[in-house]
Amino acid sequence: MKNGYERFVRPLLFSLDAETAHQLAVRLLCGASHFNVALRALKSFQPPSNPKTVFGINFSNPIGLAAGLDKNGVALRAWAALGFGFVEIGTVTAKAQLGNPKPRIFRLPAQQALINRLGFNNDGADAIADRLRILRNSKRWPTVPVGINIGKSRATPLEQATDDYLYSFRLLREFADYITLNVSSPNTPGLRELQEPQKLSELLQMFGKEAGAAPKPVVVKISPDISAAELEGILAVCEEHQVAGIIATNTTLDHSSIPSQLDQEGGLSGSPLQEKSTASVREIAARSTIPVIASGGICDAASAREKFQAGAQLIQLYTGFVYRGPGLLREIGEKL
Ligand SMILES: Cc1cc2nc3c(=O)[nH]c(=O)nc-3n(C[C@H](O)[C@H](O)[C@H](O)COP(=O)(O)O)c2cc1C
Repeated sequence: MKNGYERFVRPLLFSLDAETAHQLAVRLLCGASHFNVALRALKSFQPPSNPKTVFGINFSNPIGLAAGLDKNGVALRAWAALGFGFVEIGTVTAKAQLGNPKPRIFRLPAQQALINRLGFNNDGADAIADRLRILRNSKRWPTVPVGINIGKSRATPLEQATDDYLYSFRLLREFADYITLNVSSPNTPGLRELQEPQKLSELLQMFGKEAGAAPKPVVVKISPDISAAELEGILAVCEEHQVAGIIATNTTLDHSSIPSQLDQEGGLSGSPLQEKSTASVREIAARSTIPVIASGGICDAASAREKFQAGAQLIQLYTGFVYRGPGLLREIGEKL
């Protein structure tokens, strides 16, 4: 049976093009973040509490918001009110950037999927740090853990990627419960090369040096489009550098499961990604003790359960949330 969001809100949002609908939804949630009465209304969707501690952080439930929905960190309180157990903002880059030309998000409703080639459109680390500082000073910081996902600015050459990541890290770490290094988005040329063991090792080494007295958990977000041998190399480097967690996975460039007439350039997410990304979770859990945060194709309670059975400690939603709305959180929370 369809939930209230699917019956009433989704038809309105889906009457707009995908990016306009996304901007409208985020704007409304941003507005709601300022009003206690609106936040109370959002709380009616909350799933039951299901506390869990992972890499030293307490989560009120294991269902998080995946990176990309709130790239600029404008609606933190609303996500928390909806009942997400943690919220990952970003991807934030050192330089503000507009991203790729529009249109750049495409819906595939029959497949419960999206294709996007946004290319890290975001306000940049300086502006986002200022926004987060204002929120913290206003004493309205959300009660849930906040992850900040950082990536490389498009204009920065790959050889200078480490400095670019460090710039964002230095500005944003004071606001983050954990930091995600995004080395797996398919829409920034060359970014995925940072998953190569030597390059990843250099990046993590610099983060290790920066850690200081109160190190923040660092999490690495990986692509589903890597071979078993490549994953082995990534795990070895992550273990050597004591990475706190691995997010498996980002969107895929493997579009073989969708009809060619619907195809678009970009990263595919949602149901067609589910199996592949669960396979990555299973592989990591079998080979390593690093906690896994599962992301990819979670569209109902069964696909969420599949991730935990594969060995995930936490899960994150994106495309499923676009199609099913806040009811999805409750459905998963109640059936876990
Ligand atoms: C429109 C869109 C934008 C995204 N932007 C980001 C991003 O900025 N950074 C990131 O790490 N992942 C990004 N993702 C990937 C999601 O966080 C998630 O890992 C992926 O979509 C798989 O989960 P899903 O199948 O539940 O959507 C984006 C996904 C979509 C659909």
